[in-house]
Amino acid sequence: MKVPFVDLRTQHRELQDELKAAVCEVLESGMFVLGPKVEKFEAAIAELVGVKHAFGVSSGTDALLLSLMALGIGAGDRVITTPFSFFATASTVSRVGAIPVFADVDPKTYNLCPNALAAAIENETRNGHTVKAMIPVHLYGQCAEMDAILALGQEHGIPVIEDAAQAIGSTYSSRGGDRHAGTLGACGCFSFFPTKNLGGIGDSGMVVTGDDELAKRLGSLRVHGSERRYYHGEIGGNFRMDPIQAVALQVKLPHLERWNAKRRENASYYDQELKSLDLMTPTLSGPRENHSYHQYVTSIPHDRDHLASHLQDREIQTAVYYPVPLHLQKCFSDLGYQEGSLPNAEYAAEHTLALPIHPDLTPDMREHVAKSIQSFFR
Ligand SMILES: Cc1ncc(COP(=O)(O)O)c(C=O)c1O
Repeated sequence: MKVPFVDLRTQHRELQDELKAAVCEVLESGMFVLGPKVEKFEAAIAELVGVKHAFGVSSGTDALLLSLMALGIGAGDRVITTPFSFFATASTVSRVGAIPVFADVDPKTYNLCPNALAAAIENETRNGHTVKAMIPVHLYGQCAEMDAILALGQEHGIPVIEDAAQAIGSTYSSRGGDRHAGTLGACGCFSFFPTKNLGGIGDSGMVVTGDDELAKRLGSLRVHGSERRYYHGEIGGNFRMDPIQAVALQVKLPHLERWNAKRRENASYYDQELKSLDLMTPTLSGPRENHSYHQYVTSIPHDRDHLASHLQDREIQTAVYYPVPLHLQKCFSDLGYQEGSLPNAEYAAEHTLALPIHPDLTPDMREHVAKSIQSFFR
């Protein structure tokens, strides 16, 4: 039985008529950049996550880039982030001229470790550098330890940009109650890359914030730094969302919670079936309902690659997120990190394996995955 890692065709087949009608409406409207359909989708996301301002942008990468620009991060500034994430989390820091500083992850959740973060802030300050922002990533759909991270931010006056690219629909339980990923820091960045839990039919993303001043800058920098057409107070970019993405995402949005619930159900099935084997299933840092399981990532102490090929032989697709931690990427070699600098991220890169978790996984498929993993360990 074939078990695909993602299955967008099934999802799109179910929504085909609505998607086609929505795209046709955009064609008829003749409005292909920003406009009322983007505004409607921005309002829907703002309502879903409970935030005042939302800006539809061209990708999750541009959401991060725009946030850094809006917060005034520039040449020589230090931005502390995780070494275990998608490339864009750190590349956008370099693109504004700032210097990414990596703090190691927690060995169980793979999210930024608050103690490592505190040590990195101290180290940078001791060396006379100014830390201008921190970017925790809510990896695989589980929120980073935001209470501790925000407390550090407050103590040192450092704004927090949440990389919530993988965490639409995720929540975080803190002393102040449950809040949506992306609404805890100064601003939050989402990606609607097609394979995300809420994915478009092309690239797009969103920045959300509750801060009126930051919102003003985000709005202007999204359109070349102009508040009025052809008048540029500062240099921004073209980070605009297109309405084709907005309408496709609007069609999908009412299904997001059901899809996320299905992912949680698949995760709980795997947890149960795999718990007695010599592998580590994902560690929950809060209630399961908070997690949107963008990925279900196991850690295999021995033979990760053998397990992957054993599953491949049984027509089960798996993936490795991420094979090379960011501090060891060739393009960051001048930052001075070496193998052994950030051991938890390096261990994760060598030992983790993501299993198919998407909402269209059938009971037969997930049983085939679980039985095939059990047979490997036997
Ligand atoms: C953690 C993280 N940050 C940023 C991005 C960038 O988003 P996009 O692919 O929409 O540019 C992604 C997407 O893969 C991601 O997973």
